[in-house]
Amino acid sequence: MKRKGKGVFICVEGLDGCGKTTQTKLLVRRLGKKGYNVTYTAEPSCGEIGKFIKKYCLHGKKRVSSIVEALLFAADRYEHVDNEIIPALNEGRLVVSDRYVYSSLAYQGAAGLDLKWIEKINEHAMRPDLAIFVDVEPEVVIHRLKPKKSVMENLETQRKVREVYMKFVEKGELVKIDGNRPKKEVADDILTIVLRFLEKAS
Ligand SMILES: Nc1ncnc2c1ncn2[C@@H]1O[C@H](COP(=O)(O)OP(=O)(O)OP(=O)(O)O)[C@@H](O)[C@H]1O
Ligand SMILES: [Mg+2]
Repeated sequence: MKRKGKGVFICVEGLDGCGKTTQTKLLVRRLGKKGYNVTYTAEPSCGEIGKFIKKYCLHGKKRVSSIVEALLFAADRYEHVDNEIIPALNEGRLVVSDRYVYSSLAYQGAAGLDLKWIEKINEHAMRPDLAIFVDVEPEVVIHRLKPKKSVMENLETQRKVREVYMKFVEKGELVKIDGNRPKKEVADDILTIVLRFLEKAS
């Protein structure tokens, strides 16, 4: 499916427990109050592949091969784009996704896969118009995450994941927000960045 409408696609990225869901939902609510037509969405998606990923890759007893993870997440992403993101964009809506392609780059890249290959298998999934990275130190998120929700949640993994995210911050692809502050302060910053972006884009 092709993107035709005037919608804007934003994603929120970060480590497990950094506050992505909290911030994505706050952003959607606040933009809605300002009169924007906004859609909240998330990865893994609510489609069949997304459901399978949650069961098989995230909540299994041990981590599956990173190649299998990368391929499943990419497949889920294509369905997410086709079934949810593009239809909403084509209606002119603003779409905010709780995780997107940078999660694949960060998590499977941290697991040792070549970033270029991960990019390759995701090349047909559109790049977001704006990508926000909610930055919280691995030591802090580990304490926020009790009880443990997925096989990715250990300090060593989270440290490596943050390193990969930071590469994309340095390249200017991700906008970094300090997420280690009260939720409202983080939300205020994100809203300012998004509104500035929307103003420029219009
Ligand atoms: N700025 C903040 N300061 C302190 N605690 C926070 C902050 N933002 C979120 N939290 C808390 O941290 C926990 C994780 O938040 P949230 O579920 O939004 O993170 P997440 O990034 O979506 O996590 P996951 O990757 O597991 O989906 C929740 O208990 C939430 O209330
Ligand atoms: Mg979440």
